[in-house]
Formats: sequence, C-alpha cells, structure tokens
Amino acid sequence: MSILAALQKNRMIPEIYKQMSREALEERVREVKNKLGSKLFIPGHHYQKDEVIQFADATGDSLKLAQLSAENKEAEFIVFCGVHFMAETADILTSEQQKVFLPDMRAGCSMADMADLQQTEQAWEKLGEIFGDTILPLTYVNSTAAIKSFVGAHGGATVTSSNAHTMVKWAFTQKERILFLPDQHLGRNTAFDLGIDLDDMAIWNPITNTLEYEGDVSSIKVILWKGHCSVHENFTVKNVIDVRYQHPKMKIIVHPECRREVVELSDMAGSTSYIIKAIENAEPGTEWAIGTEMNLVNRIIHDHPDKKIISLNPHMCPCLTMNRIDLPHLVWSLDTLEDASNLNLIKVDAEIAENAKLALERMLANS
Ligand code: 13P
Ligand code: SF4
Repeated sequence: MSILAALQKNRMIPEIYKQMSREALEERVREVKNKLGSKLFIPGHHYQKDEVIQFADATGDSLKLAQLSAENKEAEFIVFCGVHFMAETADILTSEQQKVFLPDMRAGCSMADMADLQQTEQAWEKLGEIFGDTILPLTYVNSTAAIKSFVGAHGGATVTSSNAHTMVKWAFTQKERILFLPDQHLGRNTAFDLGIDLDDMAIWNPITNTLEYEGDVSSIKVILWKGHCSVHENFTVKNVIDVRYQHPKMKIIVHPECRREVVELSDMAGSTSYIIKAIENAEPGTEWAIGTEMNLVNRIIHDHPDKKIISLNPHMCPCLTMNRIDLPHLVWSLDTLEDASNLNLIKVDAEIAENAKLALERMLANS
C-alpha cells in the first residue's frame, strides 16, 4: 500500500501506545520477540533511534540490509526499522510468503520522492533523442520501487553508497554513458573518484525537463538527476573551514551524499558502515568530525569515549523521516502482525517488483 493510501485509511497509531511508559513498551517488544522467535526479523538502519535499534536483530547500511533481506528465508514477519524504500526493497527480495511491515507509513525519504516515474520516462525520451541508445540507467537504492523497475527494465541496476564505485564501473562496461538517479551528489562524487572530469557530467533537471551542461554535449559521460538529500545538504564548506580552524588535528569523514565541495575538502567519505568502521579502527585519542545523520553520530560518540568526536555541522538534526519509527510505532506494528488487518504492510505491485528485482539482483551479483 502507498503512503498516501495508508494515510487516507487513517491508519494512525492509537493513542494508547503514546501513553504507555517506556518500560511497558520495551517489555511488550521483548514479549513479542520471545513469542515469535525466528518467525520475526527486525532489521534496523544505522540512522534509527537508540530506543528502536536496541531491538534490531541486525543493523546495517542499505546494502547490508538488502543482502540480509535477500538471504532470510525463515522469517514470516519482517518489521523494517528504516524508511519506505528500504522496506520496499526487502519486500521485493523476499518470498511471497514473507510479509514486510514498516512501523510508520510516513517514514519516507525526501530524496526518493525527487524522482517519479513520469518524470523519468520523459527524461529518458529526451535523452534518447540527444544520445541515442548509449545510456545505462543506475538508481541509488534511495528511490521508489517504480524507479528501480524502470531501471531494471532498461538493463540497469541499483547502487548503494557502499558499492557505487563498483556499480558505476560495471555500468561503463555496458554502455557509453550513465543516467544516475536520484542523488546528484553520490553520482558526482563517485564518477569524480573514478577519474571522470566534472566537465563531462551534466545535470538532468526534472522540473524544467532540460539537460544542464556546458561545452560539447557529445563528451558527456554522466547525467546526474537533480536530486539530493535534505539532511546531507546541510553540511557546508563553511563547516569544514570552521572545523579545520577550531580543531586542527581533527579528521573529517563524511557520507558521499554530501555535496562535492564538502567531500573534496574532507579527509574520507563513505557509507554509514564505512564511517562506523573507520572510527572503530582509529587509535584512541584521535579526533573526528562526522558529516552524517545525527542519531548515528550521537551513537558513535557514545560508543567511543576514548576519541574526541563531533558533528561536522554543530546545528545538525536527525533525519526526520527515519525518526518517525519510534518505540510506540514499533510496538503497535508488532501487536498487529498476526491479525488480518495487514496494518503497515509493504507490498510492491507484482509487475513493478519483477523488473525492480532485476535491478537489485544485478547489484547484489556485483557486490
Ligand atoms: P547508507 O547506505 O550509507 O547506510 O545510507 C543510507 C542513507 O539513506 C543515507 O542517507
Ligand atoms: Fe533519505 Fe537523506 Fe533521510 Fe537518508 S538521510 S533516508 S537520503 S532523507
């Protein structure tokens, strides 16, 4: 069911869950987990709140959570603590008998909403007129199932922040050019790392339906969809300059959803798992400024009292949609798993799922 359809049915959390104490909510999660055992699987993305992540059976970045979903054959109920596109991915990669639930249907991703199917079809037609049959579409997993399906149907694949380099290299073995949706920053940062000149990258503007570029159109190798993450765009060059001035010994590590200028001035860039590992492997006493979502940064700070760690942007907030999954929503979701309401069930349309699965499987085969 779509987010809109769920909201239209007014499937909002009953008041009673909001009134329960934290202890009572936690006790209820433990009860359901004990009762269902391996019939229940709770994956949790690194950006989830601590109150939720404590109950996750596995935590990970988008790639790991997609791999775990594909591997899990025994769970009947998968309660996905993350955002909508992640739960859709889990539904596509699991069997018909397995049911995937998102504890709050409002947990979307603003970046995924920046590319819809109609816009993509229009873009594809126009780009075909300019470049002919020379383009392979790649989509960041932070996209709707419909976009993954479009990409799969056109020979392309999904990518995550941890395999983007591999997947862009693979794409160039298939076609001369790529269309990278919907995050221009991950696309640009990855292509740049692989030695592609910024002048050979163009931007597709889905609002004006035009290709934005300078110079010779025939030299364009990468077409970047004009989308972005509203959380990671809040890290700025000024933040980097301030940290370099105030903490000269600090290393700066950021997520590749940050804009190019910020990644360029940082010391390291990578997925959420990459960031976690880098800090884990760092020597005690080292100093770090992290450019990613705040729930994760706070957890890393808490887990590493032997290191000095701050957020690259001192005024950063958590990802608001990731934060919609809280303990009351988790309990509500668990309480309704076995009734017939299929409340908060994520079910991707079979036709869409077929081609979306192709795109996901091409990625998993290359990861
Ligand atoms: P990771 O795959 O690096 O965990 O990133 C997911 C995401 O949504 C980042 O904003
Ligand atoms: Fe989407 Fe950005 Fe939130 Fe990740 S951090 S889920 S890309 S809005």
